[in-house]
Amino acid sequence: MKLSRKIEKALNSQLNLELSSAYAYLGMAAYFESTPFTGFAKWMQAQSAEEIDHAKRFFKYIVERGGKVDLQAIPASPCDYPSPLAAFKAALGHEQKVSASICAIFELAAAEKDYPTQSFLKWFLDEQVEEEQNVGEMLAKLELVGDHTMGIVHLDHQAGRRGGEDQKD
Ligand code: FEO
Repeated sequence: MKLSRKIEKALNSQLNLELSSAYAYLGMAAYFESTPFTGFAKWMQAQSAEEIDHAKRFFKYIVERGGKVDLQAIPASPCDYPSPLAAFKAALGHEQKVSASICAIFELAAAEKDYPTQSFLKWFLDEQVEEEQNVGEMLAKLELVGDHTMGIVHLDHQAGRRGGEDQKD
C-alpha cells in the first residue's frame, strides 16, 4: 500500500517541523550557553537531539512506504531570549504546535483509511503528551520561583541532571 500524495506531503512537512524543532531547541541551548545556566543548556541540547531522532523516524517511514523524501528549508531560530522563563514558554508553544500537526496528520490518515500511518503516528501522539508535560513542568516551576535567583539556580541544576540522563540513552 503506497503512500498517497497527500499523506506523503504531510509526512514530509512533519519531517521538516521536527528538524525545525531541533533547530529551535539548539537556538535555546545557544541562549543558555550565553548565561550561567549550563543545566538548561544541556536540557535544550538533549531536546534538540530527540527532535533529530523524531525527524529520522519520519524519514525512515516515508522510505518504507515507498514515498519520496523531500527536505525543505529550515527557518532561522532565535538564539536570544529575555529570560529562562521566556525560553521555556517558547518551547511549550513549539510543542503545542507539533502536537496539533501530528493530530492533523492522524486525522488525514483516518480520513484516507491509511491504517499503517495511523499506527506509525501513535508513538508520536504518546511522545507529545510526554514532551508537553516535560516542558510544562519546568515552565510551571520557573513561574513559581519568579525572579528568585537561587530558585532559578536550583532549577538549572535539576535541568542539567535530566539533560545528562537523556544524553546517556
Ligand atoms: Fe518532536 Fe518535540 O516534537
